[in-house]
Amino acid sequence: MLKDDLGRLQSDLMAAISGAGDMAALEVVRVRALGKKGEVTGLMKTLGNLGPDERKTAGQALNTLKDALAAAIEARKASLAEADLEARLATERVDVSLPARPDEIGRIHPISQTIEEMVAIFGEMGFTVAEGPDIEDDFHNFTALNIPPDHPARQEHDTFYLPEDAAGSRPVLRTHTSPVQIRTMQAVKPPIRIIVPGRTFRADSDATHSPMFHQVEGLVIDKTTHMGHLKGTLIEFCRAYFDIDDLPVRFRTSYFPFTEPSAELDIGCSRAGGKLTIGAGGDWLEILGCGMVHPRVLENCGIDPDVYQGFAFGMGIERAAMLKYGIPDLRTFYDSDLRWLRHYGFLPFELPNLVRGL
Ligand code: PHE
Repeated sequence: MLKDDLGRLQSDLMAAISGAGDMAALEVVRVRALGKKGEVTGLMKTLGNLGPDERKTAGQALNTLKDALAAAIEARKASLAEADLEARLATERVDVSLPARPDEIGRIHPISQTIEEMVAIFGEMGFTVAEGPDIEDDFHNFTALNIPPDHPARQEHDTFYLPEDAAGSRPVLRTHTSPVQIRTMQAVKPPIRIIVPGRTFRADSDATHSPMFHQVEGLVIDKTTHMGHLKGTLIEFCRAYFDIDDLPVRFRTSYFPFTEPSAELDIGCSRAGGKLTIGAGGDWLEILGCGMVHPRVLENCGIDPDVYQGFAFGMGIERAAMLKYGIPDLRTFYDSDLRWLRHYGFLPFELPNLVRGL
């Protein structure tokens, strides 16, 4: 085995490696050099026929050659891969500065739109938006809201429980947005005027119930806030939201552990001919729950009920959206069906505001 032969073999193979135009060609060169029947491998096999001294020098030379070839193949592989990527990036290039095509434009989901509309209406009345966590503890979701452990209202909530934590209590997926009332009253001093749009969860699923849905909570706390303010605020909200100036509205007595007195608000509608229309028509539709914040709830948050009082309300966002926009099936909200979204969705540049109309 002559040194010259090895040198020639090395330069031949190196030329083949750098000449390989793609991964497949490179693999052919690799097999030709280092594969089981490859040229270098073949030479390795002849080492046994040599005398000890010769074998040592030739062996070292072959190993050096082998390493050099392997390194060259790896380097070529990397540069081919990079070239591949460059080529792909060039063909898949997207010009983000192009104007949107009307048929390709995205839509705002009715849930987002409805939240924006509610924020616009309550925003005009001086409410700000507050938020809280989806995963709650028992205290904020129940106990502080005057729902102690054995209270029957707990059963009605079909709560999703999470595994016990180290302290032995079970976190819950919040069953309503009311725990944010507690978090707000614990964190800021009255006067308070907030709305809380957000996700809520109950273990319930059929045509009119989804295990995940949305509510918007409202809370007003001040020294002189009374039931008249509650009524005025919510009547005004309903008429603005449905855009019907003379929308009939009635308050029905109800029960919530965290408000006293409590009421449910119905809006007028007609079901003539099996068709539901919001407005005057002799029929009623429940739209939200509300009441004066229970003194015990204020106390639980460190607010003196002899000094402060206020009202709270909560409503389902999906339901409000279905009624306003005639969306018949709750489940379609979460199907991510583009045809549905194109039909019921809203254009992103038309942000709701009361001046232009919702
Ligand atoms: N949290 C109540 C529910 O989920 C709604 C509500 C909120 C009622 C605030 C009164 C006051 O049903």
